[in-house]
Amino acid sequence: TRKINIAIDGYSACGKSTLAKDLAKVLSYTFIDSGAMYRAVTLFAMRNGWIKENGVIDQKALIASLNTVQIGFKPSQEKGKSDTHLNGENVEEEIRKPHIAQYVSQISAIPEVRKRLVALQQDFGKEKGVVMDGRDIGTVVFPNAELKLFVTADVEERARRRFEELKSKGVESTLEEVKKNLAHRDHLDTTRATDPLKKADDARLVDNTCMTKDEQLTLVLGWVRSLI
Ligand code: C5P
Repeated sequence: TRKINIAIDGYSACGKSTLAKDLAKVLSYTFIDSGAMYRAVTLFAMRNGWIKENGVIDQKALIASLNTVQIGFKPSQEKGKSDTHLNGENVEEEIRKPHIAQYVSQISAIPEVRKRLVALQQDFGKEKGVVMDGRDIGTVVFPNAELKLFVTADVEERARRRFEELKSKGVESTLEEVKKNLAHRDHLDTTRATDPLKKADDARLVDNTCMTKDEQLTLVLGWVRSLI
């Protein structure tokens, strides 16, 4: 069998990374969470005080320091998982929190940030055998990916799932707050000028509102097997 790259795009909290992780596990591929990279840059900007309380971002300062930002993935203590590292520090837990989710779509709209992260992401995909999820993977990062998916689910269902996920991790939030954040990010991600979220013409649509994660995996594995 040949190795392929699988590009998965879609709205916030639609189950993209769950699907990507499951596929990577079954196929023994490398899973790359591109959203984690934007979240790590957001944390970097926040720690440097470049995100002001009124939400204004010191883009100049961030852009000038972008070349000092190192982002990588290392195997987690929990078997089969990987953790995001920012300049050598494990930031996996921190970047999933609501204060990062609140600003990440503004940070990811900065063209220079995208340029740097897209280059890193393309590097990961050189050898094939990568499953990457994000917003512009099929359109910009891997326009030649052998399999492209565009995943969606009803916003109510997405909010419910993300709320449960945060709750299980002990992160405090309300369903209403989570839903607002998803809708806010979807709006910014689909309307930004640089590489907005959109379905690639040749992406296959997966609406998983009424699917279990196993049903979704089975559907997609069928497509993968027809390609490798
Ligand atoms: O996938 P996740 O929800 O963790 O992504 C966080 C944010 O990072 C998204 O809302 C989006 O603003 C940004 N992002 C992006 N391009 C990607 C992946 C994520 O702009 N390829």
